[in-house]
Amino acid sequence: MTAIDDDIIAALLAQAQTVRERAYAPYSNFPVGAALLLNDGSTAVGCNVENASYPLGLCAERSAVANAVAAGNRHFVAVAVVGRGSRTLWPCGGCRQVLSEFGDLWVVSRAPSPSRWVKRRLSQLLPESFGEEDLT
Ligand code: THU
Repeated sequence: MTAIDDDIIAALLAQAQTVRERAYAPYSNFPVGAALLLNDGSTAVGCNVENASYPLGLCAERSAVANAVAAGNRHFVAVAVVGRGSRTLWPCGGCRQVLSEFGDLWVVSRAPSPSRWVKRRLSQLLPESFGEEDLT
């Protein structure tokens, strides 16, 4: 996978920031936004959606994955995740697994200045993952 340029990363983080404002997180008070960049240049966004029955809450990344798949594109290039302020937030373990179903995308998160953001390959965040090939 090729590198993604800084302007694209900035735009993706901005979309994650915007959708974060629509998060439904009354129990944790920890809104999260995620924006997926797809291979045709389009994006799909998601936010966390909590529930009074706590375990039923949905993470932002999984919400973005569902939106992308429902829109008809499963070819992910990158995902930007935004939590509180400029603190780096990497997807939780469950979301890493869900994202890994669709390939080894870039994962981008904010970072305190001067770096502004950091990126990793999903395979760095979830090495030796379980996948479809293990089911054969
Ligand atoms: N959360 C996400 O949406 N994504 C993550 O990667 C980490 C955690 C949500 C789940 C829950 O609604 C809140 O953040 C606190 O854990």
